Amino acid sequence: MSVGGNRKNVRMRVIDTGVELREAVAGARAVGKRIGFVPTMGALHEGHLSLVRRAREENDFLVISIFVNTTQFGPNEDLDSYPRDLEGDTAKSREIGVDVIFAPTAAEMYPEGFSTRICQTGLADVLEGAHRPGHFDGVCTVCAKLFNLVQAGKAYFGRKDYQQSLIVRRMVRDLDFPLEIRVLPTVREEDGLAMSSRNQYLNPEERRQAPSLYRALKRAREAFHAGERKASTLRGMMEEEIRQAPLAKIDYVAIADAESLASLDTIETDAVALLAVRIGGTRLIDNMPLPMHT
Ligand code: PAJ
Repeated sequence: MSVGGNRKNVRMRVIDTGVELREAVAGARAVGKRIGFVPTMGALHEGHLSLVRRAREENDFLVISIFVNTTQFGPNEDLDSYPRDLEGDTAKSREIGVDVIFAPTAAEMYPEGFSTRICQTGLADVLEGAHRPGHFDGVCTVCAKLFNLVQAGKAYFGRKDYQQSLIVRRMVRDLDFPLEIRVLPTVREEDGLAMSSRNQYLNPEERRQAPSLYRALKRAREAFHAGERKASTLRGMMEEEIRQAPLAKIDYVAIADAESLASLDTIETDAVALLAVRIGGTRLIDNMPLPMHT
């Protein structure tokens, strides 16, 4: 029996080729169904599932993709160890009422001779882009392929990967994808740690120290609400909070314009605090909006 009530989709299909995916979606589109799409790399947690649930509510036919996208990992990154759990993901998806899981192989997505990539400039050059060269080319390229395959009306992304959401939105605007990008809030553990598939890598001591990212962001937000507008002061507070965790090493701590991601000296428009921190061997990212008007 379904815990989630009548949503459970016994007819959910797991598809691994683009041709079959197009066929399945074309059938739904032909009868006027609104198509929703949630791209993921799998090992689904409550952060992902919040997107899937919202997409389920707002559409008639729901496709999610599960693909650990080879092209967005750098040579020394965690592609091989990245968590994979298609069985668990299938059960969770069925429970929510997903219609199609698209779970292609790397060879299906990038067959021999594949030689095109989408490169966003500007937004993609800073922060994560500066620390992970080529990462956003991989994200844009796979998203463009997936958007073309699914041809959804709405696609859902998490604010947890704030820079990614801005870049994907920009790509969709610049390249005229007929698609609305919806960005939903970050889902956190009780102690504030943003949910992430990579949290699985943390040993108990690292896990204990991981909420330092959220504490740092909260401290910046509190100071901002109290009237602090100087970015260097806010960054200093975040760094101080991260230093309380002995296993934490900062990759970057930034105060940026919420739209352009330009680094700010003084906050005069909507801004965002962002950070990337290594806890032991695990790299975690998080962010917090600093809006001028709430
Ligand atoms: P992945 O890390 O699996 O994340 C899939 C989607 O879930 C992204 O939009 C991400 O922002 C969102 N997400 C992850 N953790 C979240 C949380 N705690 N709260 C809310 N949303 C959360 O991001 C990717 O995959 C890939 O780059 C992808 C877009 C699929 C392209 O390969």
